[in-house]
Amino acid sequence: MNETHDPLMPRPVRESISEMNEFVLPNDANPLGALLGGRLMHWIDMAGALAAHRHSRNYVVTASIDHLDFWTPVHVGDLVVLRSSVNRVFTTSMEVGVTVWVENYLADETRQVSSAYLTFVAVDAAGRHLKVAPVIPETDEEKRRYEDAGRRRQIRQAERQRRQSNAR
Ligand SMILES: CC(C)(COP(=O)(O)OP(=O)(O)OC[C@H]1O[C@@H](n2cnc3c(N)ncnc32)[C@H](O)[C@@H]1OP(=O)(O)O)[C@@H](O)C(=O)NCCC(=O)NCCS
Repeated sequence: MNETHDPLMPRPVRESISEMNEFVLPNDANPLGALLGGRLMHWIDMAGALAAHRHSRNYVVTASIDHLDFWTPVHVGDLVVLRSSVNRVFTTSMEVGVTVWVENYLADETRQVSSAYLTFVAVDAAGRHLKVAPVIPETDEEKRRYEDAGRRRQIRQAERQRRQSNAR
């Protein structure tokens, strides 16, 4: 097989880095002209999926979205920039980090308005889980995110087990 087409070949984080830009239009906003939280969640999901697709080279489904804060309101006319990359791969799942920025193109200023961690699972066309290639963190920041992602996975797993035993 051609090496570049081997989906399980380890790949650096930088190859998954993605950016998605959205203008906030009236249909995205509440009656006060502020971006709807649900719309931003949808964009975060899409931006996260971009990085997950790029890394896994497969279909992916969203398994979970961690805690999400909206720090400051975003308004109609704002340019929203969503940046994503794969933090860490486990077996069939991967954690993706998404940061959300508002770019004020008139004042040449950018402020961060939100961030989220999402877990995507790679699947084939029939929905069966697929192994994902390891990701290689290169920069200090990527290495820190890689380590932190391991701790977050332990917390997620413990919380999932707690919810499952409560549901029984
Ligand atoms: C997410 C989903 C694939 C998990 O399948 P499952 O058979 O319950 O999960 P498994 O226990 O076999 O785990 C598979 C992987 O998913 C991870 N996972 C499962 N549930 C998870 C959750 N709630 N949060 C984070 N990771 C999760 C597991 O840790 C495992 O990862 P690993 O292989 O890297 O160790 C399945 O529940 C599903 O298809 N859900 C619907 C997804 C969907 O429709 N999303 C919205 C539209 S894209």
